[in-house]
This record gives sequence, structure tokens and C-alpha cells, in this order.
Amino acid sequence: MSNINELKQYAKLNNIPIMQDEGIDFLTSFIVKKQIKNILEIGTAIGYSAIMMANLNKDIHVTTIEKDEVRYMEALKNIKKFNLEDRITLIFNDALNVKLDSDFDLIFIDAAKGKNKDFFEHFEGNLSPYGYIITDNMHFHGYVLMNEDEITSKNILGIVRKIKDYTYFLENHMLYKTTIYDVGDGVAVTERRG
Ligand SMILES: C[S@@+](CC[C@H](N)C(=O)[O-])C[C@H]1O[C@@H](n2cnc3c(N)ncnc32)[C@H](O)[C@@H]1O
Repeated sequence: MSNINELKQYAKLNNIPIMQDEGIDFLTSFIVKKQIKNILEIGTAIGYSAIMMANLNKDIHVTTIEKDEVRYMEALKNIKKFNLEDRITLIFNDALNVKLDSDFDLIFIDAAKGKNKDFFEHFEGNLSPYGYIITDNMHFHGYVLMNEDEITSKNILGIVRKIKDYTYFLENHMLYKTTIYDVGDGVAVTERRG
């Protein structure tokens, strides 16, 4: 496999959640526009978004963290197939157990949706002075926009409430300002105030 469409197809066939086309277009355009070079991604899955970001230009480096061993192994294979071993550092661990020394121009959060705030707080110290934090799935497949009475699954309702708490946390943060874009599954872009 050396073609991005085959990777997308593999994800679809194996029920692996990867970024929607509209979301990935938004993310990659943002990286190009802001001339972002050093990226931290939380939630690699099989490496699709990491490969899309690293492939934008040869000055970009992506550090990406995945805790599921099967997905990590698949991502490792895919990164090799795309010859991106020198531009993507893949870490196999729970992101909340990972401590990093480097600063990143972009921290992209795309892992367990109920833990967005934990990831944010765990890694905000790694954000470079003019860096951005982008969080995907702020609409959580549209459920966040629904009336809560219409959500029958307790599990989904729990995640929806956590995403709403995270939205409140972002929108009322003293140090950061956030815009939530209605693209893909809802994308939040956070930057420092002032
Ligand atoms: C939505 S998928 C990532 C999709 C990927 N960014 C893409 O678009 O190609 C989320 C991934 O995060 C991983 N994940 C969830 N919680 C995690 C954690 N605490 N640390 C690391 N990875 C985590 C899951 O195993 C899953 O593979």
C-alpha cells in the first residue's frame, strides 16, 4: 500500500475512525497557511492523518501517539510504506503517560473524546508561544448538536456531556481563545490570548 486512498479504504473496511475529508482538508490547509513545522498528534490510529500532515512538505515533523497495539503496528507499516520514517515519530503508549520535552507549533487532539480536557492540560506546556491546539470531533457525529432527550445511549450521552464541558472550558479559558468551525465533525482551533 502506498496510496492514500487504499489507506482510507482499509480504515473503512476495518471500522477504524479516521478524519473526515472536510476535516483533513481544513487541517492541512491550516498547517500550510500558518507555516506549521512541528506537530504533536494525540491518536494516530493507522497513521492516516499523520501521513497527510507529514506529506505536506519535507520541513514538517509529526510526533504521534497511539495506545492500541494493533493500530500502532499498522501505522508503523504505513509510515514505512510512505517512506516517512524520518518525518513521523510514532510513540506506542497512552498519551497521558507520555512526557515530552519539545515544543510544538500545533497540538492536534484526536483520541478518546471524553478525555480532550485531560490531553489539553497534559500537553499545553509543550505548546510553542504562537502555537495552536486543534481538537477534532467537537460535534461528535452530530450528537452534540442534538437535544439530549433524543440520545438513547447512556454511553453516547456521557461523551456528549464531556465534549460540552470541554467546549465550555475552551470558550471560557483565561489564557486561550477558541473558535469552533463547522467543518467535518466540528473542529476547535485554540490559540493563546493577546
Ligand atoms: C479517531 S482515531 C485517530 C484518527 C487519526 N488521527 C486519523 O485521522 O487518521 C483515535 C485514536 O486514538 C487512540 N487513543 C484513544 N485514547 C488514547 C490515549 N489515551 N492515548 C493514545 N491513543 C489513544 C485510539 O486507539 C484511536 O486509534
